[in-house]
Amino acid sequence: MTEKQIQWFPGHMFKSLREIKEKVKLMDIVFILLDARLPFSSMNPELHKIISHKPMMLLFNKMDLADDKITNTFIKHYQSEGYHTLKIDAASGKNVNKIKPFAETILKEKLDREKAKGLKPRALRCMILGIPNVGKSTLINKLSKSSATKTANTPGVTKTQQWIKLGDDFELLDTPGVLWPKFDDAKVGYHLAITGAIKDKILPEDDVVHYALDYLQTHYPNRLDLRYGIRKDMDYLTMLQTIGSLRGCLLKGGEFDYPRIYQIVLSDIRNHHLGGLSFDRPYDVSV
Ligand code: G4P
Repeated sequence: MTEKQIQWFPGHMFKSLREIKEKVKLMDIVFILLDARLPFSSMNPELHKIISHKPMMLLFNKMDLADDKITNTFIKHYQSEGYHTLKIDAASGKNVNKIKPFAETILKEKLDREKAKGLKPRALRCMILGIPNVGKSTLINKLSKSSATKTANTPGVTKTQQWIKLGDDFELLDTPGVLWPKFDDAKVGYHLAITGAIKDKILPEDDVVHYALDYLQTHYPNRLDLRYGIRKDMDYLTMLQTIGSLRGCLLKGGEFDYPRIYQIVLSDIRNHHLGGLSFDRPYDVSV
C-alpha cells in the first residue's frame, strides 16, 4: 500500500465504526447506498462486520449517471447472492418512493411474527450508510421532504440524534453513517477518483485522466469519438492534445494547458456529457 492510498482512509472514519455498529443495533433495516457507476468500489469492505445479520437493502444511487446495462447486470449479480436491490436517483427522486414499501415487504415476516407473539405494533427504524459523496444527505432530504416530521430524541441513541418520521410507522435516523471505500486496489482508487468520490489531488490527476481515457477508449470508444473526435488507435498524449485543440486549451507560448484538459475530461465524465458510464464491471466483483 502506498502513502497516497493510506490517505484515502481518514482516521475519523475508523473512529466512527464503533458508533455506527451501536446505532445499527437499533435498526430494523439498513439502507446501503452505493454509487451505481461503481457498486463494487463504493462498497465498504467491512460492511458485513458492521451490519452482521441485519436485514439490508442495496440502493444503487446515481442511476442517472451510470450505464444502465451494466447496472442491471450488477443488480442481477447481487440479487443472485440474496441481496435486496433497488436503482435510485436521489437527486431527481426517481424510485425513492419505492424504498419504504420495499423495506416493509422485506420486514413483513418479522412483523407478522411479532404480532403473533402479541407484541404491540411499533414504528420500523432504519438508517442510511455509505461512503462520502455517494448521496446520503441528498437521499435523506428527498425521503424527508414528503413527510418532514422530526420525532424527539430516543433513548439508546446519542442525545443530539433525531428520527425523521416517514409516515406513521417508519422512522429514519436523520444522520447517515459514513463508511470508507475499499482502498487496497489501485483500480478501485481510480474509479473513486474519476467519479469524484475521493477528492481530486489525492491521486495524481494525470494518472487518473490517463486511466479514464484508456478505460473509455476500451469500453466506450464511440462516446469519445462523438464528443472529442478521438479515434480508437490514438495514444494517450494524442488524445489529450485532440481535446486541448478542440477546446482551445493553450498557454501563451502555444503549449497545451494540460491541467485544464484534465479538468475538462473529469468534468465531462461527472456531468454526463459522455452519457451514462459505469467504471466497475461485473467481472471485477469477486464475491
Ligand atoms: P453524501 O451525503 O453521501 O456525502 O453525498 P451528498 O448527498 O452530499 O451528494 C454528493 C453529490 O452527489 C451532490 O452533488 C449531490 O447532488 C449528488 N447526487 C446525489 N445523488 C445523486 C443522484 O442520484 N444523481 C446525481 N446525478 N447526483 C446525485 P454536488 O455536486 O456535491 O452538490 P450539488 O450539485 O447538489 O450542489
